[in-house]
Amino acid sequence: MFDPTMEQTLVLIKPDALKNSLTGYVLSQLSEFHAGVRFAAAKIVYVNRILAEEHYAEHRGKAFYTSLLDYIQGKVHYPDAPIKRRVIALVYQGENAIKKIREIAGPTNPHVARDTKPGCIRALGTVVPIVDENGKIIAERMDNLIHASSSPQDAEREIKLWFRPVDIPPLM
Ligand code: GTP
Ligand code: MG
Repeated sequence: MFDPTMEQTLVLIKPDALKNSLTGYVLSQLSEFHAGVRFAAAKIVYVNRILAEEHYAEHRGKAFYTSLLDYIQGKVHYPDAPIKRRVIALVYQGENAIKKIREIAGPTNPHVARDTKPGCIRALGTVVPIVDENGKIIAERMDNLIHASSSPQDAEREIKLWFRPVDIPPLM
């Protein structure tokens, strides 16, 4: 039987958060004290193209897709330091874990986050114009510090993508 206290969600601390030394802040905002959820798994991941494409499959073909793949792979924030390209992948667990963490993360667009939900994690993010070779703005990139699963179906798919079953303690 489904136990609501066991709901799991995937969080990624993205390369912009790592570069800006916001890891501690993010973890503290998502702590059991603040968020009412607990760790079920954690690891540092080098994100290859296949994983990036699979994670963001729903956005394939959109104007910002390629820049999104470069962003999650750390190529944008560490162009000259491949060794620093990584994300921190976490599984959190608890009642309403998906909703609670999305609340603390805030709106996708950091400008909207600042306007409508100051204090949320993504209010500290940035929106960066993407220009073509002639300098014309063709899209924008949302550097929004963390990823958080948006539904139980997404959470299940994403956790399976980022973690092996043995990475998650059995009682979790
Ligand atoms: P994630 O937690 O990263 O999945 O963000 P989200 O669930 O709030 O948004 P969504 O899954 O729709 O989009 C994934 C990522 O694509 C976002 O974090 C943004 O970086 C980027 N993105 C989504 N929608 C847009 C958009 O309309 N324009 C641009 N430029 N980027 C977008
Ligand atoms: Mg999403």
